[in-house]
Amino acid sequence: MNDQNQDPDDGSCASLVGTVFEALIGKVAHGGHCVTRYDGRVVFVRHALPGERVRVQVTDGTAGDRFLLGDAVEVLQASQHRVVPRCRFAGPGGCGGCDWQHCELTYQRDLKAAVVVEQFQRLAGLEVDVAVEALPGDKEGIRWRTRTEFAIDGSAAAGLRRHHSHEIIPVDDCLISTERVIATGVLDRRWPGVSSVDVVDASGEPRALAIPLPQRSSTVRYVTELVDTGDWAGEFRLSARGFWQVHPGAAATFVAHVLRELAPQPGEHAADLYAGVGLFALALADAVGTTGAVLAVESDARAFGDAKANLRAHPEIELRRGKVDRVLKPLVRQGIHADLVVLDPPRTGAGKSVIKEIAALGPRAIAYVACDPAALARDVAYARDAGYGIRSLRAFDAFPMTHHVECIAVLEPLA
Ligand SMILES: C[S@@+](CC[C@H](N)C(=O)[O-])C[C@H]1O[C@@H](n2cnc3c(N)ncnc32)[C@H](O)[C@@H]1O
Repeated sequence: MNDQNQDPDDGSCASLVGTVFEALIGKVAHGGHCVTRYDGRVVFVRHALPGERVRVQVTDGTAGDRFLLGDAVEVLQASQHRVVPRCRFAGPGGCGGCDWQHCELTYQRDLKAAVVVEQFQRLAGLEVDVAVEALPGDKEGIRWRTRTEFAIDGSAAAGLRRHHSHEIIPVDDCLISTERVIATGVLDRRWPGVSSVDVVDASGEPRALAIPLPQRSSTVRYVTELVDTGDWAGEFRLSARGFWQVHPGAAATFVAHVLRELAPQPGEHAADLYAGVGLFALALADAVGTTGAVLAVESDARAFGDAKANLRAHPEIELRRGKVDRVLKPLVRQGIHADLVVLDPPRTGAGKSVIKEIAALGPRAIAYVACDPAALARDVAYARDAGYGIRSLRAFDAFPMTHHVECIAVLEPLA
């Protein structure tokens, strides 16, 4: 929040934290808050809903800042979509894990759809129409999180962090974590000498695993994840703390959608960029068959090692360790062609040069799996400059109660 150009003597550095004002809440904004104004400044307010009249308490910002952060600490006129949070640890000053516990689940999805639409307007100059869909197995937005890292406080008890803080709130449950995560007993015992406990509930395991951190031994623990779309099934072994989609319905839904949209044909050449432990690469390989080819690219050593083991039985998959940008550049120089590309980058997105390189491969379709709609919108704008437009866009509620949303955009050459 601090502006480096502020003069410390002109009063602009005076903290506004704690200031309370009454406000009418405007639109939802990316990040789990809604917008209002105070004294000429934009304020991003958590725990509010559009159209509400609330009392806001500033939680971050100074008199010189162009925008402030705040919490709705009192609701004067509630939205019809407001509900009593199911979690007693959510709310102003509470656990920072959830953003929308106070909001009806279907309206949470409407708000996320509005955020996606707004990001595309603002960052890509595009009008998109999207609804945020529940994933299969959704249990009213709770008990979905298969990976939860609990922090350990000074009394060796497990808890969760306060929003934007290192402070640890003691909890006896986390409603968005799966029952099996909680059944490990992570919240019932003390963890002396431990800074956090990562609990992993993998679909191919009989029970969830609690991993105290820092780990005392260098032995890596592995878990098995099973994916079944109805038309395709795969099994993956991965380091327990490695990346895997956290919602139990996510991996199969995303693979099924990507395969349906791309319709890979025997003999085609495909690329799985930011491949993780090989989820999309394996599904693509089964579709293009031994006459086809799949290039999988992953930079993380551990994920690469896991992908190597998972993809071992498929000689048609070429797995490369490295940054996507670096791996694609020489291929583009050699004029290599790909029929299909799947990319699933981290929150920062792929960026202009990677998008240009992907377009230079000349694919007939690109499936972009995105955990941040802002990064997706930016990259879609780069793709348009490189000759690709959106054929379809879907959004999935892979993280209910939080502001996060997963989108899959399918791009094809512009006519
Ligand atoms: C969102 S995960 C997707 C993994 C996989 N597609 C899946 O669904 O399980 C992103 C992956 O990209 C990898 N990664 C991040 N930056 C990268 C880069 N510049 N080049 C290659 N891989 C990268 C991360 O290590 C991570 O495994």
